[in-house]
Amino acid sequence: MHTSLLHWTASFLQPYRTRIVGISALSLTEISLAALAPWTLKLIVDNALTGDDLPISLTQWLPLLVTIEPVSLLIVLAIAGLAIQLASELARMAHTQLQVDMGQRVVHDLRSRLLAHLQALPMSHHTNQRTSDSVYRIDADAYCINDLVTGGVFPLAIAGINLIVMFTILLQVDLVLAFMTIAVTPFLYLCLRFHTRTLVHRAEAVKTRESWLIERVYETLRSIAAIKSFSRETYEHERFLRASNETIQARLTLTWQESLFSSVVTGITLTGTASILIVGGIHVLDGSLRLGTLLVVIAYIAAVYDPISSIAHTIGSLQQATVSAHRVRNIFSLAPEILENPDAISGPIKGHVAFENVSFSYDRVRMVLEGVTFDAQPSQIVAIVGLTGAGKTTLVNLIPRLFAATKGRILIDDIDISDYELRSLRNQVALAPQTPVLLAGTFIENIRFGRTDATDEAVVFAAQSAHIHEFIMGLPNGYDTTIGENGATLSGGERQRLGLARALLGKAPILVLDEPTSSLDSISEAAVFENIRRTRLKQTTLIIAHRLSTIRHADQIVVIDAGTVVDSGTHDTLLKTSPLYRRLWERLSAGRTLDEHALFHGQAENTTG
Ligand SMILES: Nc1ncnc2c1ncn2[C@@H]1O[C@H](COP(=O)(O)OP(=O)(O)O)[C@@H](O)[C@H]1O
Ligand SMILES: [Mg+2]
Repeated sequence: MHTSLLHWTASFLQPYRTRIVGISALSLTEISLAALAPWTLKLIVDNALTGDDLPISLTQWLPLLVTIEPVSLLIVLAIAGLAIQLASELARMAHTQLQVDMGQRVVHDLRSRLLAHLQALPMSHHTNQRTSDSVYRIDADAYCINDLVTGGVFPLAIAGINLIVMFTILLQVDLVLAFMTIAVTPFLYLCLRFHTRTLVHRAEAVKTRESWLIERVYETLRSIAAIKSFSRETYEHERFLRASNETIQARLTLTWQESLFSSVVTGITLTGTASILIVGGIHVLDGSLRLGTLLVVIAYIAAVYDPISSIAHTIGSLQQATVSAHRVRNIFSLAPEILENPDAISGPIKGHVAFENVSFSYDRVRMVLEGVTFDAQPSQIVAIVGLTGAGKTTLVNLIPRLFAATKGRILIDDIDISDYELRSLRNQVALAPQTPVLLAGTFIENIRFGRTDATDEAVVFAAQSAHIHEFIMGLPNGYDTTIGENGATLSGGERQRLGLARALLGKAPILVLDEPTSSLDSISEAAVFENIRRTRLKQTTLIIAHRLSTIRHADQIVVIDAGTVVDSGTHDTLLKTSPLYRRLWERLSAGRTLDEHALFHGQAENTTG
């Protein structure tokens, strides 16, 4: 195992020092009992059955044994042997329990740290990363820490201690045999080195494919409505089967190598045991070694080789654990957003928002915003209009720092937003996104999403402002009615109004509404805007709107085209000064939407040309 990986693993064991002491004590007990066990057999063979005198070292401690009958001695020794085995079994039981307990706890700790870290990673990570892969890392890969501890660190330590203890005792018993026992270790080591080197790729292949498989299932279930309506079930099933078959293949290749390795290891240890049996047998024949002692040696060799072969058998999963650990540690190596910087500003804000020459690119290649400059005074309503894809959503997402501007600055109350504490900033900017994310839960839970401490009255007030109160009251359980996963049981307009209520609840000084009513008909839309205008409390309000009728009363209108601000002013001035705004206005007055991008541009060219 790599040293840094060992360090990392050890860092998870820190809080469980007492348990480790317990496990170590139990392991030592097991090793001592295992060292003791063969001697009862030796005494039975060499003394009780052949009638020779017991060794002085023993009779010195138990003088009673000198006068004992051979049959009674046999019984006493057998009972002693049994007692040792039973004690060893009890120790093993306690050991397993403690080890599983600790293994589960370290997995729990790793998962909790992983989720916390994933949540802290910036939006750019989450928009580029597959969700299923992150789920797989928390669900399956996090188990690596348990495998590393219980399949790697502990067995290696036990094998090491066993080797030392048994070797030391063997040295006293028979020098040649003792050295023969450890003669196999270099072979085992070489074999292990060679094996792990090729294994790591195969283990990686298995991980990647398993993660793909999860992704297939995840994608299929997430888009089930589309799959059904386009009758893609068979196609999706076949894709799943292909992914599953690849997983099987990868797993089989891995298993094949594992069994091959495990057989080679067994072969080496068996050869070791056989040669010791031959040399020891010759010693017994020439009288330099007693039969019972040879039995002790054989038992010791087993005690040393057992943990080694158990590692050999589990090395595959250990290697997979290493790969998983790598995947998990990759996440930890990504820099999180700093939520609470001690130098950052966190006080209440008035709500003066200013964009200064802001440019932005998602991929650092294609610019989505370029040189955006505008100003929203406290308590103003500023409308942002433009064709779909112009960059309006991107622009407002920069305000709560969901993404960071590539160039230029955004100021709130004349202070760069990157100087604000992120939590405080986000608490003071309420964002109603284009497609709000809803939870499986009740209406009240969903509205309280960002303010879990809001009173029932505040929730009702926000729902009234968002024009969803009557709808909710008409439901059998009112605010306690449950919504399906991501609002599956609601219409688009209901979902949007719920998202709006959520944003209105906090009374944040800056309110950002991203096409909050695009799924509503124009009559409900007008009513919602009227409500917002009436009930909002001096909040600076940025609205991206779909229908110009609802924003003609805005204090300022910013017209965006292809990522740049082309014009800004009030409705009346823009009608006179901005050709783009006038075209937008004409188009919308004629009852069309802004979504028909190509069509509109074609028409625009005609008008200007
Ligand atoms: N996460 C993203 N990664 C890369 N490009 C994106 C991402 N989100 C949006 N875009 C692109 O940025 C441009 C502006 O999108 P958006 O701000 O959503 O436009 P609007 O809200 O004005 O319709 C579009 O061309 C879109 O394809
Ligand atoms: Mg948008």
